[in-house]
Amino acid sequence: MRTQVGIVGAGPAGLMLSHLLHLRGIASVVVECRSRDHVERRVRAGVLEQGSVDLLREAGLGERLAREGARHEGIELRFGGEAYRVPMTELTGRAITVYGQQEVVKDLVAARLAAGGEILFEVDDVNLHGLDSESPLVRFRHHGREVELHCDFVVGCDGSHGVSRGAVPDGVLTSYERSYPFAWLGVLAAAAPAVDELVYARHERGFALYSLRSPEISRLYLQVDPAEKLEEWPDERIWSELRRRLETVPGWTVNTGPILEKSITPMRSLVVEPMQWQRLFLAGDAVHIVPPTGAKGMNLALADVALLGEAFADWYAYGRDGLLRDYSRTALRRVWRAQHFSWWMTSMLHRLDSHDPYEQQLQLSTLRYVASSRSYATSLAENYVGLPSI
Ligand code: FAD
Ligand code: DHB
Repeated sequence: MRTQVGIVGAGPAGLMLSHLLHLRGIASVVVECRSRDHVERRVRAGVLEQGSVDLLREAGLGERLAREGARHEGIELRFGGEAYRVPMTELTGRAITVYGQQEVVKDLVAARLAAGGEILFEVDDVNLHGLDSESPLVRFRHHGREVELHCDFVVGCDGSHGVSRGAVPDGVLTSYERSYPFAWLGVLAAAAPAVDELVYARHERGFALYSLRSPEISRLYLQVDPAEKLEEWPDERIWSELRRRLETVPGWTVNTGPILEKSITPMRSLVVEPMQWQRLFLAGDAVHIVPPTGAKGMNLALADVALLGEAFADWYAYGRDGLLRDYSRTALRRVWRAQHFSWWMTSMLHRLDSHDPYEQQLQLSTLRYVASSRSYATSLAENYVGLPSI
């Protein structure tokens, strides 16, 4: 089997890259270890930056997004019994759109399959060879058959547990990493959201986030200990904890309903540099991870492959390798900005057992400063809606 660009992983990064390449007349094959049903149902992120919305729209994927996505012009910060709205659009002229990651994935899978694109689901034992040659090879098993996919380039879009990054020889890559002593318990609930805009809450018992997916579906998160198991969190305990952390504003209540899905995600920051070795390029969670507090993970994945789409177009149309060579350096500027913002939001809003009363006061002071200073609020807002690469 032969293609121009072999892509490992059918998450937002891999699927979007395959679509962008197709629009430029470049062939690709996506290999994915899970089933189509699994990737389309995986509940994860929900916030699209303005730049991600523009990218999806320009790539012809804006129709359902425009119909079902919800434009948000502000977010709320809740802390110490106060509530403050960050008026993002007033401060920056831009907005975010709430549209579930699995909806982005569904739209992309549908677009690729409608265009005759090849996505091989449920492949096993993916491994990469000849990455330092002009004809690298992706080897895997599909329906019990050994398959060899010959390509010009391989792009690893296989997320934080993928295999692509491991194909780079020892000593080439440098990792920058931070783990946090907490995780997020995320739930999707059949409950009408009690909010019009996202609420990020700092509370003595830990962080909580109120988000939404539709007029009937709420998406909520609680800071929990990473060692805790889902079995320790029956639905009643989740609702009671959400109430304690969010019902800090007089007269306001959380709307409850059946919980449709729940999962616990540990929190980590990671950057691996460079994002390329020879004919292997790495994109999205395969090469950088952010804690979800800044809502940046999916947006970074899409921004990476937007660069790769242009770089491959330049290579195939004109034989120019400048953009491919610059890919890692260019992408890392955005990646590090998002790293700092995600770390900052996380540090400001989460409870840390190691925090002494002095550090708790610093958190509250930072939040009050956002609430009282137009320039500090603008800094939060411009990072949240997404900065151009800086
Ligand atoms: P992924 O979406 O992880 O896609 C990688 C794909 O590669 C997957 O389909 C995987 O099955 C496939 N794959 C892996 N290994 C192989 C292999 N060996 N062979 C073939 N295929 C392989 N971000 C937020 O902003 N907010 C959130 O609330 C949030 N929640 C999250 C919850 C979880 C459980 C996780 C894991 C991430 C969450 N994120 C969140 C982060 C965000 O969802 C990611 O940043 C985003 O999915 C990155 O897209 P990606 O395409 O790079 O990787
Ligand atoms: C959602 C996820 C996030 O990580 C975040 O910061 C805001 C919203 C969400 O899933 O809706």
